[in-house]
Amino acid sequence: MRWSNLLALALAVPSRAVVRFHCSQLVTQRIDPLVNPGSVPSSHVHQIVGGNAFNATMDPSRDLPSESTCTTCEFSEDFSNYWTAILYFRAQNGSYKRVPQLGNNQFETARGGLTIYYMQDAIYDRGQKSKVKAFQPGFRMFVGDISARTLASASRFRQLTYVCMDTWTSRAPETMAFPTRRCPEGIMTSVRFPTCWDGKNLDSPDHMSHMAYPESGTFESGGPCPASHPVRVAQVMYEVVWDVKRFNEEAWPQDGSSPFVWSFGDGTGYSTHGDYLFGWKGDALQRVLDAPCWFDTKCEKESNSKLQSIEAMNSCSQKPVVDEDIDGWLDALPGGYHADYGHAHS
Ligand SMILES: *[C@@H]1O[C@H](CO)[C@@H](O)[C@H](O)[C@H]1NC(C)=O
Ligand SMILES: *[C@@H]1O[C@H](CO)[C@@H](O)[C@H](O)[C@H]1NC(C)=O
Repeated sequence: MRWSNLLALALAVPSRAVVRFHCSQLVTQRIDPLVNPGSVPSSHVHQIVGGNAFNATMDPSRDLPSESTCTTCEFSEDFSNYWTAILYFRAQNGSYKRVPQLGNNQFETARGGLTIYYMQDAIYDRGQKSKVKAFQPGFRMFVGDISARTLASASRFRQLTYVCMDTWTSRAPETMAFPTRRCPEGIMTSVRFPTCWDGKNLDSPDHMSHMAYPESGTFESGGPCPASHPVRVAQVMYEVVWDVKRFNEEAWPQDGSSPFVWSFGDGTGYSTHGDYLFGWKGDALQRVLDAPCWFDTKCEKESNSKLQSIEAMNSCSQKPVVDEDIDGWLDALPGGYHADYGHAHS
């Protein structure tokens, strides 16, 4: 279904919360407090959005709302941090160039960043009847497998996808590998986190095993949570729009493969992943989840929240602490990575 149709339905039948809002770029650099805590630099480049208390050591006891002085997110009480790796274009001569990010549909003037969704039921379900509890302070999670280079290894993350955008509002078809044709408007990556929690742990050693996807089916089909992870939580989803169209005039690989690589070298796309670090102030996320604002970014009144303007979001940023060139034509990806296609590529 096209997004414009979804929005038309939203206007017709306002109901419970599916919220969609944007967060502008906070900083883009090699920092990863989840997987490489304390490392400056971390292994590969990430783009991070959210509260400006973000740094390389995000101890779970830290109070992000009180330590932050601003957030790049539209909900002014959301001091969470959300991040993904970044994309590079690999030219035929082997040099790499960063693929910039764009805002998103309805957030065109945002400085890059990512669009966040929180929902209780499938995105197209206007009822949103499942009551879910907000995450707790200190909660964090990761989804994806940075070593995945095959469809088989990516398949357990069935909700991490790409769309080759023919138009600015294209949301289908979704693929699990990088698109291999030129995309007129951009590439969108979507990251849908697991929706079943073990009910006990705010984190786990791999940052994933305290969470699970539904036992059968998917979140969208109302699949039940496994007994090991019985607590159904909100679906957190990211959308990131990559401005690949500026590379459409460049020469592309002769063998039909994609010229895009993740910042840690993956040239297949199967290793896409996302990181989430909860940091909403007080009960602000719970109020949003309980509010009747399906697909409506103007949920301010219903949830008793304050939204900030895109200009205010854009005015919050951090200086990178890692001093290196991530934007020029590079001989190697920051951290020394090179394009890697696994065994499938010759
Ligand atoms: C991150 O911020 C906390 C709180 O201000 C501070 O204790 C810690 O040393 C900082 N870590 C780094 C790597 O800057
Ligand atoms: C490699 O190719 C890119 C894209 O065509 C070009 O801009 C860059 O200058 C080239 N780099 C070298 C070292 O030739």
